[in-house]
Amino acid sequence: MLQPDAPRVLVAPSLLAADFSRLREEAQAVEAAGADWLHLDIMDGHFVPNISFGPLVLRALRAQVRLPFDVHLMIAPADPFIEAFAEAGADHICVHAEAGPHLHRSLQLVRSLGRLAGVAINPATPVAAVAEVLDLVSLINVMTVNPGFGGQQFLSGQLAKIAALRRMIDASGHRIALEVDGGINAQTARQAIEAGADTLVAGTSVFGATDYAAAITALRPAAS
Ligand code: DX5
Ligand code: ZN
Repeated sequence: MLQPDAPRVLVAPSLLAADFSRLREEAQAVEAAGADWLHLDIMDGHFVPNISFGPLVLRALRAQVRLPFDVHLMIAPADPFIEAFAEAGADHICVHAEAGPHLHRSLQLVRSLGRLAGVAINPATPVAAVAEVLDLVSLINVMTVNPGFGGQQFLSGQLAKIAALRRMIDASGHRIALEVDGGINAQTARQAIEAGADTLVAGTSVFGATDYAAAITALRPAAS
């Protein structure tokens, strides 16, 4: 059961599942449909086995949409590109803990550019990977699929990890969004929220729907 004082659950539609020939219209449509953030998946064909888009696409969309840009970097190395994404209009820049040996430095770099820093962890990565950077991050992204593609099935084995991170964040006293990413639909959203997530990335379940507003509403708990 959602507690009465629980924070509002945020929904971040992932543009990866949008019609790429109509990116502006798609981004504006989820904004009008009540999305909280726009999630932008950056893939390099190296850290993950797929290629998506880069800072030029962000820049083109930035003037068209007011939603905060939640940028998920699935690239290695990340550091050489962080400034370009910041300049292109990213509000949050999330780097993978597995993307290099210097996560702390990457997060410092994001913060030095005035952007909110996030860290993402793959399904096989334990919570300990983020324990020493809680003071630097505003966001932790728990991948509930292996990153690289939309439309995959939610890995329910990650629920225990979400719960462990919830405890870790609460004990830290830091204000950190706990985001889940991959395979989120109305059912898995509920499970993730019950485990302690407060931010939902959803690609297929939003952009694959005919009514985006209904799809976004269906992800939020009724009381949210
Ligand atoms: C996967 C991406 C996700 C993806 C989610 O690598 O990080 O953000 O777009 O897509 P769905 O919601 O379709 O699983
Ligand atoms: Zn993502």
